[in-house]
Amino acid sequence: MILVTGGAGFIGTNFVLDWVAKIGEPVLNLDKLTYAGNLENLASLADDARHRFVQGDIGDSALVGRLLAENAVRAVVNFAAESHVDRSIHGPAAFIETNVVGTFGLLEAVRAYWGALPAERKAAFRFLHVSTDEVYGSLDPQAPAFTEQHRYEPNSPYSASKAASDHLVRAYHHTYGLPVLTTNCSNNYGPFHFPEKLIPLMIVNALAGKPLPVYGDGQQIRDWLYVGDHCSAIRRVLEAGGVGEVYNVGGWNEKPNLEIVRTVCALLDEKRPRADGKSYTEQIAYVTDRPGHDRRYAIDARKIERELGWKPAETFDTGIRKTVEWYLANADWVARVQSGAYREWLSKNYSERPAA
Ligand code: NAD
Ligand code: DAU
Repeated sequence: MILVTGGAGFIGTNFVLDWVAKIGEPVLNLDKLTYAGNLENLASLADDARHRFVQGDIGDSALVGRLLAENAVRAVVNFAAESHVDRSIHGPAAFIETNVVGTFGLLEAVRAYWGALPAERKAAFRFLHVSTDEVYGSLDPQAPAFTEQHRYEPNSPYSASKAASDHLVRAYHHTYGLPVLTTNCSNNYGPFHFPEKLIPLMIVNALAGKPLPVYGDGQQIRDWLYVGDHCSAIRRVLEAGGVGEVYNVGGWNEKPNLEIVRTVCALLDEKRPRADGKSYTEQIAYVTDRPGHDRRYAIDARKIERELGWKPAETFDTGIRKTVEWYLANADWVARVQSGAYREWLSKNYSERPAA
């Protein structure tokens, strides 16, 4: 059995669903169910013995230690984190608590469990830490994409907390020999993406007739990867990655935010035209920029392709089409995640962001 942490969030949900469908090995899913965790995402596995859910904190070493031992876990995939940059600007404490202190607690429990395993199981054990390209900081327009050798230059409380967790993972390998793997991935998009992040927020706001808030000039560049491709990369690294190695994961899909928003609008114009016949681009509203906003991210994914033969299956055109279709087909899911807490967040983040 594998232990997945944060498996009720956006990427964790996609990973668990794909893992059960494609690999079939049982998954123990440990998630605290913060605002970002949603068990409804995994409703299709409710009667499936291959998925067991436990609500809890990765920083609870006693709980994690018990779960590892009781279930003879052979690998851990750590998705659990606070993940939204804007939230880290409003309230960094939760990011330090989960991403730094929580990862430390998890590593301690895993180290104790792994250290007591018999030799063969000890050698086969893996701890895969899911991280982000944001730890590398911001790129100038002509600079080459981030390789695994790029120095760490995190700029937000979120990326600094993820950088700290990456360093702890590295240190547990270097010092204790824990068999770790780290992946640093670019921006994901796809089904079950919480509508606080750019792409789902634009889809949801467009359909609700609300403004589409573009930070600053909208020319910041992100490197987009369909979530299913991130999941296949993690499976491949878990299966064949070199112990102690880092793999950058990306889609070779650099695009400015404004282009992303316009693409979403064009797809909605085609699939769910506005009643007045105008384009959803009419709803674009330029708002005050994110403080310390990183200008450009880009991932050089040649190492994972060369050494492990991984490549993304989706292009941006196919992935974004699937994504928009998923949101149109899952209006009930969207309505249910827009709870009071979600509305409070929108008011906190966007009322302090007047038109630019
Ligand atoms: P998410 O915010 O959608 O989900 C995070 C999940 O972790 C939630 O289910 C939440 O309940 C759970 N969680 C939070 N704190 C916890 C704790 N202390 N103990 C146990 N569970 C806890 O995040 P996501 O977008 O799915 O990202 C997953 C991971 O991938 C994160 O580590 C993130 O840094 C990384 N990542 C995300 C992206 C992206 O574009 N979304 C890209 C690269 C890397
Ligand atoms: O690069 C990987 C990272 O991608 C992950 O590590 C993070 O967990 C994930 O949240 C994501 O971070 P970003 O900050 O890049 O994602 P977000 O969707 O918040 O924003 C994408 C871009 O869009 C960014 O330049 C900010 C901009 N933006 C975002 C929002 C929410 C807007 O212009 N308007 C908005 O309302």
